[in-house]
Amino acid sequence: MRTQVAIVGAGPAGLMLSHLLHRSGIDSVVVERRSREYVEQRVRAGVLEQGTVDLLREVGVSDRLDREGLVHRGIELLFDGVAHRVPMSDLTGGRAITIYGQQHVVRDLTVARLATGGRVHFDADDVTVSGVDTATPRVTFTVDGRREELVCDIVAGCDGFHGVCRDVLPRSVRQLLEREYPFGWLGILAAVPPSADELIYAHHDRGFALASLRSPTISRLYLQVDPREDLADWSDRRIWDELGIRLAHGGWSLGDGPILEKSITPMRSFVCEPMRYGRLFLAGDAAHIVPPTGAKGLNLAVHDVYVLAEAVADWYRTGSETSLDGYSATCLRRVWRVQHFSWWMTSMLHRFPGHDAFEQRLQRSQLEYVVGSPAAATTLAENYVGLPWT
Ligand code: APR
Ligand code: PHB
Repeated sequence: MRTQVAIVGAGPAGLMLSHLLHRSGIDSVVVERRSREYVEQRVRAGVLEQGTVDLLREVGVSDRLDREGLVHRGIELLFDGVAHRVPMSDLTGGRAITIYGQQHVVRDLTVARLATGGRVHFDADDVTVSGVDTATPRVTFTVDGRREELVCDIVAGCDGFHGVCRDVLPRSVRQLLEREYPFGWLGILAAVPPSADELIYAHHDRGFALASLRSPTISRLYLQVDPREDLADWSDRRIWDELGIRLAHGGWSLGDGPILEKSITPMRSFVCEPMRYGRLFLAGDAAHIVPPTGAKGLNLAVHDVYVLAEAVADWYRTGSETSLDGYSATCLRRVWRVQHFSWWMTSMLHRFPGHDAFEQRLQRSQLEYVVGSPAAATTLAENYVGLPWT
């Protein structure tokens, strides 16, 4: 098989890249390890920045997003039992976030690709990437017991944090920068209408909690827990009780109901530099992970592939490698801004084991400053809705 761009991974990064390239008349093939059902049902992130929504609209993949996405113009920061609204849209000239599940973005992009003859190979085993330091890299994989070889000009490594592409960068070339946090998030999806109109980020002595949602009938909630915690120790009753304690404020009460799904995710910050080696370009979680407190992972992945699609199109159009050469540095500038924001939100809102009263007072002071100063609130708001794309 022959294509111009071989894309490993059919997450938001890989599918969006394939769609953007198609719109520029560039052929691509997507190779995905999991089944289509699996990737379209996997519950992941759910907050789209303004820029992500704008791009989905611009490229014609927003019919369902426009119907079902829930636009949010503020968030609540809850500490010492009092909720403070950060009016994000007022502070950012009208920008907003939209709640829409990542698996829906994946489904919409898959439908759009298949409708225009896009080649997406699901259930591909043993994907290997070779020859990225030559002009004809190869991606090989097994489907239906047959070994296939895909010859291409460029490989896009969009295969997430646990993918194979990052390891293709020689150790002498790449630098991995990393922080692990001493906590994780226990997340639930529940068949209960959200108890609040906007997201509530709660700072509490027992640990952080977050009330989010997916739709008018589905809630998504999180609790800070020890990352080594056993999910079996968290009965539905215990989860609801703990959420009720950490999210309590004023006369507000949390409605509970059937829990559809629960999981514990460790939290880390991670960046691979550079994001390119020869003809291999990393994008999305394959190149970087942010802790979810800033709701940025999906948005950063979309930004990467937007930059990559432009650079690849420029290369085919002009023959000049200037844009491809700038890919890594352009992306890493935004990656580090978002890394800082995500680390800052995480540091401000979580209970850190080992922190003493001094650090706790600093954290409290920071929270009071953010809700009390329009300048500080704007810093949060403009990062949260997403800084303008370059
Ligand atoms: N071969 C083929 N496909 C692979 C391989 C492999 N060896 N390894 C992983 N994949 C697939 C995964 O099954 C997944 O569908 O690559 C895809 C990567 O998708 P995501 O993990 O969703 O990563 P990305 O597209 O970069 O999107 C980032 O995902 O984790 C969230 O918060 C994160 O919202 C952000 C988004
Ligand atoms: C979510 O709804 O899954 C969500 C919302 C906000 C975050 C993280 C996750 O910061």
